[in-house]
Amino acid sequence: MSATAKKRAPLPDDIRAAKGGAPLVSLTAYTTPMAEMMDDHCDFVLVGDSVGMVLHGLPSTLGVTMEMMIMHGQAVARGLKSAMMVVDMPFGSYEEGPQQAFRNAARLMSETGAGAVKLEGGVVMAETIAFLVSRGIPVMAHIGLTPQSVNTLGGYKVQGRGDDRDALIADARAVTDAGAFAVVLEKVPANLADLITADIAIPTIGIGAGAGCDGQILVVDDMLGLFTAFKAKFVKRYAHLGDDGAAAIANYAEEVRARTFPAQEHIFADEAPKK
Ligand code: KIV
Repeated sequence: MSATAKKRAPLPDDIRAAKGGAPLVSLTAYTTPMAEMMDDHCDFVLVGDSVGMVLHGLPSTLGVTMEMMIMHGQAVARGLKSAMMVVDMPFGSYEEGPQQAFRNAARLMSETGAGAVKLEGGVVMAETIAFLVSRGIPVMAHIGLTPQSVNTLGGYKVQGRGDDRDALIADARAVTDAGAFAVVLEKVPANLADLITADIAIPTIGIGAGAGCDGQILVVDDMLGLFTAFKAKFVKRYAHLGDDGAAAIANYAEEVRARTFPAQEHIFADEAPKK
């Protein structure tokens, strides 16, 4: 799907139909200005629960709440005209079962205007995905490294290596059969991502899964160099806004202390009193 050729925001079915075509382009966003910046360039924008780590300083995504996702979803929606918005279901909002998932997914969709929700999990979430889809909620799946399960995965490790390969293929097939319109593959070997991409009928959206996926996604604060606590191997920094911002703030502090800011062009002259 070419961003320049878009006339309206794609629907989940358009994303599904893009399988095997031009690579789908996606980034995360959490605020209106960021959403505006990427609207013309992305097919879909994800309000990811990574917001907890990159904007709120949380140590993982586990502390992210429905209220946070709704507030950031509403902010992003205000900045989008031509990209579809997908909102993450936060940890604890869907794992109990299909009814709980429907209640919270419906709230995310109705209160933010999202076109779809994303949730983490493969085979274990298939029943929930099928339930949501059959009741009108488009679902993007997320398998491989699923950060909400960091405590049972033993860290942010590459997934699907060696003996785990077949389980990942089974996850990809299960979410496809359940009706997901696309699936995020996070931190999996590139050759396995290629195999899965060829094997399933829905687009694979890679993050740390190689160039053979049907699309790519990155966390925007990672690729702009705004989040600097750590850098995953799969992140490419296209800008260094964190460093640039820190240098700008140091410069401002220096100029305030030296009384060189504000300068003449930043101040207001008085007017002579009218007689
Ligand atoms: O929360 C997020 O930003 C994500 C992406 C990494 C896919 O799920």
